[in-house]
Amino acid sequence: MAEHVTITYNGTAFELPVITGSEGEKAIDISTLRQNTGFITLDPGYANTGSCISDITFMDGEKGVLRYRGIPVEQLAEYSSFKETVYLLINGKLPTTDELNEFSILLNDHSLVHEDMKSFYQNFPRASHPMGILSSMVNALRSFYPELQTLEEEINITVTRLLSKIRTMAAMSYKISRGHQVVYPRSGLLYCENFLNMMFHTPVRPYKLDRAVVKALNVFWILHADHEQNCSTSAVRLVGSGRVNLFAAISAGIAALWGPLHGGANQAVIEMLNTITENGGRIQPFIDKAKDKNDPFRLMGFGHRVYKTYDPRAKIMKKWCDKLLAKLNIKDPLLDVAKELEEIALKDDYFIDHHLYPNVDFYSGIVLRAIGIPTNMFTVMFAIGRLPGWISQWKESMDDPNWKIGRPRQIYTGPNKTDYIPINKR
Ligand code: SDX
Repeated sequence: MAEHVTITYNGTAFELPVITGSEGEKAIDISTLRQNTGFITLDPGYANTGSCISDITFMDGEKGVLRYRGIPVEQLAEYSSFKETVYLLINGKLPTTDELNEFSILLNDHSLVHEDMKSFYQNFPRASHPMGILSSMVNALRSFYPELQTLEEEINITVTRLLSKIRTMAAMSYKISRGHQVVYPRSGLLYCENFLNMMFHTPVRPYKLDRAVVKALNVFWILHADHEQNCSTSAVRLVGSGRVNLFAAISAGIAALWGPLHGGANQAVIEMLNTITENGGRIQPFIDKAKDKNDPFRLMGFGHRVYKTYDPRAKIMKKWCDKLLAKLNIKDPLLDVAKELEEIALKDDYFIDHHLYPNVDFYSGIVLRAIGIPTNMFTVMFAIGRLPGWISQWKESMDDPNWKIGRPRQIYTGPNKTDYIPINKR
């Protein structure tokens, strides 16, 4: 007999099947609950609710485990490249040399952006946040690249266009916001190298690629590449479930990621570290604020819905942060503040009892500062890294024969039936 649970209500027993994942995780399949019992479940924030079955990423929040298609993120960060990890996430396997070369050629062929898009950038107010610009411009891509004939072609070319153009669009946004000449992608430069060159090359000061910077950027984007059903990925799946085009679904993911509780935290961490520094570097007052129930302040870069131990990505990021700053001979005072803050917090009962540890965003901003990325582009960097994850999750939902439009239910608590009262009688 298949594994099941039994719910008993008013003397009636209902059996619900149990699903077991490849790592032993268990779920109660409630897809027949309402039709058999009239009940729905309620789970604000979906902390106890699985939205799908997925083969892409495995996380163990208690043990601090993260694997893409079964491969530990530690190994990918050490030995792989972001482009190879993108291929792994989207195609479900590591590429052969020929497959990776072919992928490189495709990315290169689709790296340019329609020249008419430049005028869009030039007409955003100068103070526009790069995440708002990116979300709008990704959505606008459908206008410049209309639907292709076959679904197969549409998916493959659209995926490649997005993966390649997002770098160009981010760098173009940066250059135009500073009134600088746009730098175009160059064939012969690898994925991360091309982005760095588009961002920092100028006609009077050619950008000199530093191997340590290129490696740190690869690691940064590998660590951000996917994270199962987080807020922005769930947004991409939900918006995509209405069968809208991929550009629009990704635009929704970018918007969701922007929030300071989600991808916007990497920018908020640096702002918090700066505030601590500007306040004389005293950390305890900020720890006390974070613990104060009446104070909305939270320690940015700390805590996680799934990880109840150290985020494995934060460990790796901290290691590469130390390596990069040592190689570039940079002494960033914010790194010292971050390390002192971590040390104090991890000894504090409140953080211990609440299982609050540094997450991916805690050290990532220090790496981006060392590379030269402006703070208001930190979440754009997260979005570029997360794009392959969003795409692979969207593709998996599109390929799922049982996938249907997402439409959660609710429990209504408003007024019961009330008659309309004409305005002259109110
Ligand atoms: C990302 O989901 C993902 O996978 C996301 C992500 C990804 O790769 O996609 O990993 C990327 O978004 C990382 C998280 C970045 N955000 C931050 O660093 C913002 C600060 N962190 C928090 O706001 C919070 O920890 C969340 C949003 C990350 C998680 O919040 P939860 O799971 O909804 O937990 P909660 O808000 O219900 O908090 C539980 C308790 C509360 O205290 P009690 O009322 O139970 O006593 O923990 C406390 C909270 O007050 N708490 C914090 C805290 N985080 C949680 N207290 C102080 N500082 C914090 N950072």
